[in-house]
Amino acid sequence: MDITLYLKQKKELIDKRLDELLPADTEYPAIIHQAMRYSTFAGGKRIRPILTLAACQAVKKEKALVLDSGCAMELIHTYSLIHDDLPAMDDDDFRRGKPTSHKKFGEAIAILAGDALLTMGFQILSHALLKSHISNKGLEIIYEVAQAIGSKGLIGGQVMDLQSEGKQIDLDTILYIHKSKTASLISICVKIGGLLGKAQEDELERLYKYGEKIGLAFQIVDDILDIEGSSDELGKTAGKDQKSLKATFPGVIGLAESKEKASELIHSAINSVEPLGDSALPLIEIARFILRRQN
Ligand code: IPE
Ligand code: IPE
Ligand code: MG
Ligand code: MG
Ligand code: MG
Repeated sequence: MDITLYLKQKKELIDKRLDELLPADTEYPAIIHQAMRYSTFAGGKRIRPILTLAACQAVKKEKALVLDSGCAMELIHTYSLIHDDLPAMDDDDFRRGKPTSHKKFGEAIAILAGDALLTMGFQILSHALLKSHISNKGLEIIYEVAQAIGSKGLIGGQVMDLQSEGKQIDLDTILYIHKSKTASLISICVKIGGLLGKAQEDELERLYKYGEKIGLAFQIVDDILDIEGSSDELGKTAGKDQKSLKATFPGVIGLAESKEKASELIHSAINSVEPLGDSALPLIEIARFILRRQN
């Protein structure tokens, strides 16, 4: 399959739906809707909603409302980026090739735009699930998303990421940080696709393993790209981790070992979904893409 074309087509589909879902930037109070749209449409690979779509396709049963659920996850991800970039956190000036939200709108509106995107993510997700026919699974999904991005998930990872700046940390701590701040959101995006696709228990188990592994690999590659990529290509400032004395995978186990670890994780993720057959091809190709991506 042509993964470049697949990613492009899915991104177009997601962008079009996000445009319909987000309030118009003229809607009162306009500034918050402008800020929500600014960061959402600044660019972005849309990997998380694409994973939701691909996971649903892998078990190929029911497709209704999977697009809206994926879009909800992209809004939650965008919130996490706006807050991650704030002066009190990573203090970054560029994101998705443009000035960060606080640079463009000021800190107060950037914080509120993040809050609004997080809230709207749950609004869209719960609306989609209410309209779907998966009954009590809907509540289960909301519960799991909240858990994945809370203080024992994404937020917990962000806390330890900040608290580890300038410190010598061990492998367990960097694993905790990366699994929590990045892999937990990515793996729940995959799982939602499976649940909406009415996956069997064993299929869900395979999808979940895949999600955890590509999620961890995704953050290891992000750390590697911070060292080896260019700001132009990344759309964010390269070399920033070293400047901020961030705890990173290459910092703990070295660059070569990090590349090896990412590659191992991707192969193991592929192995876990291969038994699902041809319908899992997009998931397999997305995993390969995560390893070789340049931004
Ligand atoms: C960046 O995520 C933040 C991390 C978890 C590493 P992405 O690399 O998916 O960023 P966008 O959405 O494409 O801008
Ligand atoms: C971001 O990790 C993780 C979340 C946004 C939850 P990073 O801080 O490494 O992401 P970038 O490099 O700024 O995109
Ligand atoms: Mg960060
Ligand atoms: Mg950052
Ligand atoms: Mg990074």
